[in-house]
Amino acid sequence: MDFDKKILCIGAGYVGGPTMAVIALKCPEYKVTIVDINEEKIKGWNSEQLPIYEPGLEEIVSKVRGCNLFFSADIKRGIREADIIFVSVNTPTKTFGLGAGMASDLQYWENTAQQILENSEGPKIIAEKCTLPVKTAQAMERILKTNSNGAHFEVVSNPEFLAEGTAIQDLLEPDRVLIGSHQTESGLRAAGEIAKIYAHWVPREKIITSNLWSSELSKLVANAFLAQRISSINSISALCERTDANISEIAYAVGSDRRIGPKFLNASVGFGGSCFKKDILNLVYIAESYGLSEVAEYWKMVVRINEYQHERFVASIMKAMFNTVVGKKIAIFGFAFKANTGDTRESPAKFIGRKLMEEKAILAITDPKALGNARLDLEGMDGQVTFEPDPYQAADGASAIVVVTEWDIFRELEYEKIYKNMKKPAAIFDGRNILDHQKLFELGFNVYPIGKPSLTHFE
Ligand code: UDX
Ligand code: UDX
Repeated sequence: MDFDKKILCIGAGYVGGPTMAVIALKCPEYKVTIVDINEEKIKGWNSEQLPIYEPGLEEIVSKVRGCNLFFSADIKRGIREADIIFVSVNTPTKTFGLGAGMASDLQYWENTAQQILENSEGPKIIAEKCTLPVKTAQAMERILKTNSNGAHFEVVSNPEFLAEGTAIQDLLEPDRVLIGSHQTESGLRAAGEIAKIYAHWVPREKIITSNLWSSELSKLVANAFLAQRISSINSISALCERTDANISEIAYAVGSDRRIGPKFLNASVGFGGSCFKKDILNLVYIAESYGLSEVAEYWKMVVRINEYQHERFVASIMKAMFNTVVGKKIAIFGFAFKANTGDTRESPAKFIGRKLMEEKAILAITDPKALGNARLDLEGMDGQVTFEPDPYQAADGASAIVVVTEWDIFRELEYEKIYKNMKKPAAIFDGRNILDHQKLFELGFNVYPIGKPSLTHFE
């Protein structure tokens, strides 16, 4: 079949996979190919067992795969054939050298730019999808301009705002699509080509265009603002635990102000995921590199409060368990960084789990989707940790349950049965405030929520 345009995506991860699946679904006249250096991942995408879990993704992939959506490990050919290339490779925080712990590690991204350069024979539009430091588009352009065959590359920024667990819904009904480009004739034309893709299903007024740097920075700022709300409410949760205030009541009262709004005000063990911390640190690094130390300090505190929240949670577990967990079985309910995903990148569960193991606790981890990743994360900790698909088994004989992820199934368990099989005194630390605390207390549990008074049977 002849296609109007050929779209390529480099990077078949949490962003590239779902985004291209939706583009293929909505644009049947475009051929969409996704390539990745990881051949195993490509095999996974071509099988019945997709490498990532997202509600609704499987249905879409099975509809379009082999029609106008293709997964391939042949990166060179993909680049040669493509008119438009989305770049969605990972850009983790640097672990070495200049900017370690803060700046983005751009080696994969630069590698991708080189691959594009070496394998292109004609003009192409390159759309950055990955979160990148501001002015990366310019760097990519500089690399691409070193080509000798005269092919013209127009680099645009098209950041992805999807959240994991709701990726398909976010892609189908985005709040906005952002496209940043040079304000030149060819830049605007390229932005128009990208807009045309989304216009298949996104109302025109939701497709925003801007200059390149505004677009790149908007992505970092959007994530920084979201994370800031969580750190703000979490900082107040600490205050609530010292007073008789209740964080849920405060979040409701404050969020009822339409200027503030109710979303992203759930106090928790702290935020996780591959983006928030990385993007804020990136923002901090950029601010510092321009000598804006007050701006850098301001945003750094969002990350600091998040770490403080993790630390505070572990400290409260230790205190409630009489300052020793040696040899005690502790059931960890949830290892994913949030519900409805198997992703464990930057999950608070890793920090909490490790700290409890350092204190010589025996962990039983249960999670409906993340046990595979949890096993990889805790490799080498045999003897101190087991992985249990069944939450009842995980809690059997445990002295405490620690809720880290807000999976719905944890709300629906028969806690009476669970309580009977636990060691007494039995504690529940609800790091997400998703359980019925009063009911658990009445069943006999000592209950420790976030930002609310604990309910204990002790004198
Ligand atoms: C990534 C970034 O983490 C995020 O900052 C950005 O906003 C979007 O891209 P994600 O899709 O979640 O997000 O990353 P990941 O699931 O790790 O997928 C990246 C894929 O790129 C991996 O499958 C990796 O194998 C692939 N890759 C990496 C390449 O194909 N080529 C490379 O040179 C490097
Ligand atoms: C985020 C952004 O929402 C998305 O727009 C961007 O493209 C990528 O980064 P994601 O990391 O997938 O998406 O998940 P998100 O729903 O934002 O949650 C991030 C973390 O914050 C999770 O650990 C979540 O549990 C936590 N969170 C969220 C809270 O602790 N409280 C809240 O009220 C909301």
